[in-house]
Amino acid sequence: MSDFFKNKVVAITGGSDGIGKALIEFLLPLGAKVATCARNQDKLYDLQLRHSTKPLHCIVADVSNYNDCKLFIDSTIKQFGGIDILINNAGISMRTLLKDSEVDVFKKVMDINYFGMVYCTKLALDSIIERKGTIVGVSSIAGYRGLPGRSGYSASKFAVNGWLEAIRTELMDEGVNVMWVCPGFTKSNIRNAALNAKAQAQGESPLNESELMSASKCAGYIAKAIEKKKRTLVLTFKGKQTVFFNKFFPSLTDRLTRNFFFKDGKLIK
Ligand SMILES: NC(=O)c1ccc[n+]([C@@H]2O[C@H](COP(=O)([O-])OP(=O)(O)OC[C@H]3O[C@@H](n4cnc5c(N)ncnc54)[C@H](OP(=O)(O)O)[C@@H]3O)[C@@H](O)[C@H]2O)c1
Repeated sequence: MSDFFKNKVVAITGGSDGIGKALIEFLLPLGAKVATCARNQDKLYDLQLRHSTKPLHCIVADVSNYNDCKLFIDSTIKQFGGIDILINNAGISMRTLLKDSEVDVFKKVMDINYFGMVYCTKLALDSIIERKGTIVGVSSIAGYRGLPGRSGYSASKFAVNGWLEAIRTELMDEGVNVMWVCPGFTKSNIRNAALNAKAQAQGESPLNESELMSASKCAGYIAKAIEKKKRTLVLTFKGKQTVFFNKFFPSLTDRLTRNFFFKDGKLIK
């Protein structure tokens, strides 16, 4: 890769695990100054220790809380002087059918996946405009195609895509690039942490995680797309196939999606 990221300040939400952590570990060796936040203090502490000689700023913050986001963004600007690239990555999923779910599930997912992005982006915006920087939203294939058992997650990612498309247009003449990334299934903690019907972490993954794209490969694709100032990035063959089929053959895709996620009337994935 070129020296595009050298000395750039990159703020990444949700860096304690999965894709966010992989992004940090991809960008630090390229010379970026990285700030991250997450709720799990122990995981952030381990990360900080592992990279103690690198410019890494870690803050314990819950992105669904505006004041926590303010602490994260303000302290990043104080530490590094500004923000060039904001990667709104923090996210949570769910796995429960609407008929079984407490409504709290939908609220929690939206508060983190959508409002967390709104808060951090709004707080970092002046600095990003000043530096003609980049705003990234880590969305999902579920932001193009509603997925059963993940209706609240899908709604949050549709919200993210629409919101980013709108602000991309608002910011066009400011020299700011806005991009949304839609990873396909990627190996991470997301399915373990996904909320069940009672809005608690389900603590297991219904997929064979070892067969999925690695978080570090995903991070590499995201970094490349940032450098190329892409509009969107849809990852994995299955992901691209789903977006294509849903656009041109939506009813057929309803059936294919149903067959993928259900067996004998039961949600299996
Ligand atoms: N993995 C996939 O298959 C996949 C596919 C499509 C899209 N995505 C998207 O990719 C993004 C990253 O997910 P991942 O797969 O890397 O999952 P992950 O391994 O579970 O990582 C999620 C990260 O977000 C943080 N986070 C969650 N809730 C938070 C909150 N309220 N405040 C601050 N940080 C929070 C977590 O840290 P704490 O728990 O410590 O707060 C963790 O660092 C998400 O937006 C997800 O929707 C993932």
